[in-house]
Amino acid sequence: MCGIIGYIGEKQAIPLLAEGLRKQSYRGYDSSGIVVIGESVQCIKAVGKLENLEQKVTDVYPKGTIGLGHNRWATHGNVTEENAHPHGDCKGNIFVVHNGIIENYQVLKEKLEAKGHKFVSQTDTEVLPHLIEHFFRGSLEDAVRKALQLVRGTYGLAVIAKEDPGKIVAARLSSPLVLSINSFGGFVASDPAALISHSNKMVFLDDREVAVVAKDNFFVTDLESNPKEKEETLLEWTVEEAQKGGYPHFMLKEIMEHPQSLENTLRGRLLQEEGLVKLGGLEKFKEQLRDMEKIQILACGSASYVARAGEYMLEEYGGIPTQVDIASEFRYRKPVFDKKTLSIFVSQSGETADTLAALKEVKEKGGFTVGVVNVVGSSVARGVDAGVYIHAGPEIAVAATKSVTSQLAAMALIAVFLGRQRQLSLVMGQRIIKELARIPELAKKVLENTRDVEKTAEKYSKYSNFFLIGRKYNFPAVLEGALKLKEIAYVHAEAFGGGELKHGSLALITENFPTIAICPSDSVYEKMVSNIQEIRARNGPVIAIATEGNEDIKKIADDVIYIPKTLEMLTPILSVIPLQLFAYYMGVLRGHDVDKPRNLAKSVTVE
Ligand code: AGP
Repeated sequence: MCGIIGYIGEKQAIPLLAEGLRKQSYRGYDSSGIVVIGESVQCIKAVGKLENLEQKVTDVYPKGTIGLGHNRWATHGNVTEENAHPHGDCKGNIFVVHNGIIENYQVLKEKLEAKGHKFVSQTDTEVLPHLIEHFFRGSLEDAVRKALQLVRGTYGLAVIAKEDPGKIVAARLSSPLVLSINSFGGFVASDPAALISHSNKMVFLDDREVAVVAKDNFFVTDLESNPKEKEETLLEWTVEEAQKGGYPHFMLKEIMEHPQSLENTLRGRLLQEEGLVKLGGLEKFKEQLRDMEKIQILACGSASYVARAGEYMLEEYGGIPTQVDIASEFRYRKPVFDKKTLSIFVSQSGETADTLAALKEVKEKGGFTVGVVNVVGSSVARGVDAGVYIHAGPEIAVAATKSVTSQLAAMALIAVFLGRQRQLSLVMGQRIIKELARIPELAKKVLENTRDVEKTAEKYSKYSNFFLIGRKYNFPAVLEGALKLKEIAYVHAEAFGGGELKHGSLALITENFPTIAICPSDSVYEKMVSNIQEIRARNGPVIAIATEGNEDIKKIADDVIYIPKTLEMLTPILSVIPLQLFAYYMGVLRGHDVDKPRNLAKSVTVE
């Protein structure tokens, strides 16, 4: 998420910073900025395309051989110049660029304001320069180390100070940062893609490490100033390979990011002891939300399948009548709802035309609206009354992958939030929270079986028709799996609730018509087994996605992919992952451009 670049050396910093930002622009961003220390300090920011920043920089051309640059993907605060990085302290001495989230920024900000610090942005990041300023006594690295000991959250950051020139201080915790020294200076970046054209020798920082980078050397310590030995890594990547983090495609990279993106969705929102969920965007509407008698969820494509899982969660745990509508249908079908109906809009991009049209329709009728959105400051995010950002990070491949699991997790959070206002018990609330906290780790375990999925795709890559079946919470998961197969592998795929197959579609089953069955050990397992038997009796091959440890399933399925056990309502978060991987490998094996499938766009901004 976002992009950091820093340079210190003999050359003018501006062209090198601009190049570093451009090389990271593929990650998505909504604003950008640079700061350069020369005879004076100049900090320039712009909203929108990098060209806007480049234009401003060309006009002014700040001279100096030390500087930082940043592409921002908004998380806290709207897309404005004030919120763009770099952020500075009160004196215009210290400047910070930061990726990640400072969870305790509110508390820190209040304390700093009480000491007289003045803030100009809505961001969490701005507490960093002020906190560093608070500790600054001439040594930038000492001040950074002290400041970071008070910070909770995640960071990849780079800092410079006019009063301690000749160095960039960089640090990381759960957000990548890499350094590189070459013949004309030292660099830091959040993405090796920004540096690879200068040198392929890189040093990757580990969590809680602080690096001091000068023009021809660097040293690394921990937060307590103990020195750390670091080894150089030789990266034999092209710029394009580096942008994909070494993965052959963005889609695979984004699938591999599930554990991290889920962690970002859940961070700071789970109150284990109270069995509650903290959703900043909904807190001040608590009373209003408690009065709602019905929910309608509006979305398109993958987001609409997430909505279906959300429907099941909200009815089972919230006890609220819930209905899902495809946004493109909703706008034309004269829907009936009133002021006691809560309308939830799920959208990764927040720019889908049909979803926006449905939002307009609801607002015109005075309905209360909540967004579940990835892109901060997008049209849906701005249009709704309240919102829950999923914080999945930029999704570049056309296929929705990590946004889907993050949306599912967000729906579970909303179900607990609304459920605890109603019928959901403390004990059940605590159980769901406990299991949600494990979900990123469980997603990691699912990804350990990637090779099994790849082998299965190799076996089935020549088949052109698939059924997918699942029941209850995994019905939405198979709808999503079928969509993935269509858009990435270009094979015909249809998804059913397991019980529906016998009402007609079973007629198509032959030995050449495989079915993927999601059958975790849950309340509908026996039913799924019966549905699988119906297919086996007609010689249809079956690929089962089952719970780890279930050996019996091997007796009735041709191939089995395992996922770990979790709460039934959370299983789709895990079961969609092998379906995404299966579609990915099918697409690759069939020779398709999996990142940019034919006829499709990432964001459907036309009707
Ligand atoms: C999924 O892989 C697709 N790219 C598509 O169905 C997508 O989910 C749909 O267009 C909705 O997009 P949104 O979440 O950005 O609103």
